[in-house]
Amino acid sequence: MTEALTFLRRATARHGPWIHKILGGALMLLALGLLSLGAHRVLAATTRRWFERDVELRANLAVTSARRGLQRHWTSQDATLLATLEDITRDERILGAAACTVDGERLAATEQFPQPLSCGALAERLRTSTGEGGDRWSATMDLHRGTIHLYAVAISPGGFVVLAHDLSFLARREQTTGRMALAAFVLLALAASLLTTIASRLAWLGWNSQLRLALVGPTPREFEPLVRDLRALVGDLARDRVGVEDSATVWSPERLREVLRTHLEGERVILVANREPYIHEHTPEGVRVLHPASGLVTALEPVLRACSGVWIANGSGSADRETSDPQGRIRVPPGEESFSLRRLWLSAEEETGFYYGLSNEGLWPLCHAADTRPQFRQEDWVQYVAVNQKFADAVCSEIEREDAIVLVQDYHFALCPKMIRARLPRATILTFWHIPWPSAERFGIAPWREEILDGLLGSSIMGFHTRQHCNNFVDSVDAFLEARIDRESSAVVQRGQRTLVRPYPISIEWPVHRLDGVPAAPLCRRQVFEELGLAQGSLLGVGIDRLDYTKGIEERLSAVDQLLERHPEFRGRFTFAQLAAPSRTRIERYRALNDRIEDLVQSINDRWERSGWRPIVLLRRHHEPPEVFRYLRAADLCYVSSLHDGMNLVAKEFVAARDDERGVLVLSQFTGASRELTEALIVNPYDLPQASAALARALVMPVVEQRDRLRSMRALVADRNVYRWAGRMLVEAAQLQKRGRLLGRLSEAGGG
Ligand code: F6P
Repeated sequence: MTEALTFLRRATARHGPWIHKILGGALMLLALGLLSLGAHRVLAATTRRWFERDVELRANLAVTSARRGLQRHWTSQDATLLATLEDITRDERILGAAACTVDGERLAATEQFPQPLSCGALAERLRTSTGEGGDRWSATMDLHRGTIHLYAVAISPGGFVVLAHDLSFLARREQTTGRMALAAFVLLALAASLLTTIASRLAWLGWNSQLRLALVGPTPREFEPLVRDLRALVGDLARDRVGVEDSATVWSPERLREVLRTHLEGERVILVANREPYIHEHTPEGVRVLHPASGLVTALEPVLRACSGVWIANGSGSADRETSDPQGRIRVPPGEESFSLRRLWLSAEEETGFYYGLSNEGLWPLCHAADTRPQFRQEDWVQYVAVNQKFADAVCSEIEREDAIVLVQDYHFALCPKMIRARLPRATILTFWHIPWPSAERFGIAPWREEILDGLLGSSIMGFHTRQHCNNFVDSVDAFLEARIDRESSAVVQRGQRTLVRPYPISIEWPVHRLDGVPAAPLCRRQVFEELGLAQGSLLGVGIDRLDYTKGIEERLSAVDQLLERHPEFRGRFTFAQLAAPSRTRIERYRALNDRIEDLVQSINDRWERSGWRPIVLLRRHHEPPEVFRYLRAADLCYVSSLHDGMNLVAKEFVAARDDERGVLVLSQFTGASRELTEALIVNPYDLPQASAALARALVMPVVEQRDRLRSMRALVADRNVYRWAGRMLVEAAQLQKRGRLLGRLSEAGGG
């Protein structure tokens, strides 16, 4: 039953206009049919009355002209009375005639006179209907031979003559005229609907050409604002159809800028992220600019450089204050200065509760399946709310228009979208969650699950790396909030606010501008080999990460251990260099991880070390991008072993770095990147035999196979670069913004 109703509702929604047209047409035909039936009835009754009147006149004429003869022969009662009656019935319409006495005796009757009619009954009728002094009577009746009309007239003395007219021809005529009337009305109805269709088509064409004229030519003044909006929307829709998904065209900073110019009228983008793209640090050599190890920064810095706008972030560098203006503003990148960085200053208490506490001890382990329990503390939540409000206020102070486009980044700012929406109801808020979204069941353990979901639903679009994360998010909303889930268009509607939930797999810029100035692969290899003291003919593997328990660094090192155990041929030859950027070191778990990794490296090296060769080199410090790329170019393999990772851009950076088409990517199946980089050797990092076998395979992979795999992955990353990622989101956001504006204009025009 429910399914039937749903089907009907869907069918009505989809085919509504046609159903209305068909019903309208049917009703019109029914009305015309009823009209034609009624008209036919009225016409038939009128023509019958005319015929009866006509028959009466004829009968009267016939009797009047025969009256003398009738009177003369009345009493004679011989054959001449009958002959006179037969003379009268020569008129072909007169069926028969009879002569009766007022007492009801039949004196004579022609042969065709209907037998059932007795003179007694007729005399009675004549007496009662005409009354005193009356001398005639007429009636129409149906006998078994058909309809007859009787006309009786008194013939003195004491008798009357009755003429019977055959009226069955009338019924035949009525039938014929009825059919003709019906045919005429059907024809009329068809002609009418044909004319209506032609008229409405002409009217539509007329409206269309008027609209087209209005869109391209002079417009009546009262429609100008509406037509302006329509013109813009129509143009946008046409543009949108070609472009964003079109994989034939290359996405570049210029293309992204063009998208912003055409879709967003060159509007500046306002981005909120905890991590800043440039950190000013005091060092013994003076103030240095550092580029943090963050996938978010890797992806979004090129986008902001292309778009311009403002990046609002936590000013975390020791020299940040003195390098910014009093409002915390600084133009970046240094030397290029294509966008603004607005630094907000957090107190120690805010940083502890917001960044270390709720964000990285609560939400981070909540969202990553890496067997680390989240910790939720009320005092952290209080700071999280306060800092979210601080950033939301900063956004509102930066906007230049009420319907600005705001990009909210990551799990640090789950409450920001709702806070911004409260002050800027018409803003287009695009939130991207850079880490995985857990299953609804796991998410449900968060004490503020409703507040977090509610905050995020202030967004116009919620973006995740994968469809799986989108589904998990929608399931969580379904489980914990009163909201309508529109699974067909992957959207959530809550209190009239619609949030689209979309997968946008993030990527890196292409070409990577940070590779400019990085030496070619053979030179990188020579340099790195020299730095690490590796002998010629050695094999090199690299791992590059923040020192985080989600990255599976321990599993990675254990896989190297197994490789050496199972494949003696690599002992003394293979070295794995782990570049590990210290991260979140105030959190005990990160410190503990750091210690564990140190111990593990020590024990593996102790186990296999021999005459100047150590299998593992741990470089535990921050590495600037050129250094990272040098290692990526120098290596025989890169192993990304995350236990759970939203995307992992190191994997894509390795592919980008290898323009020599050499080297092998070994990639965890638990990264978002493994869904796209399918030519990597995909492994389960927990499965040490499998992972170590993959490392062994990578180290002996023929050059041709390396080239084929890399070519394919490079083509994919080049095509699905971060400009396409940003372009897709911004175009979708711009469409929402335009729709919002148009609806606003329409409701104003409608007096709303
Ligand atoms: O890949 C993105 C990301 O995990 C962000 O979510 C995070 O900001 C960043 O990398 C690194 O973390 P942090 O900013 O705490 O150093």
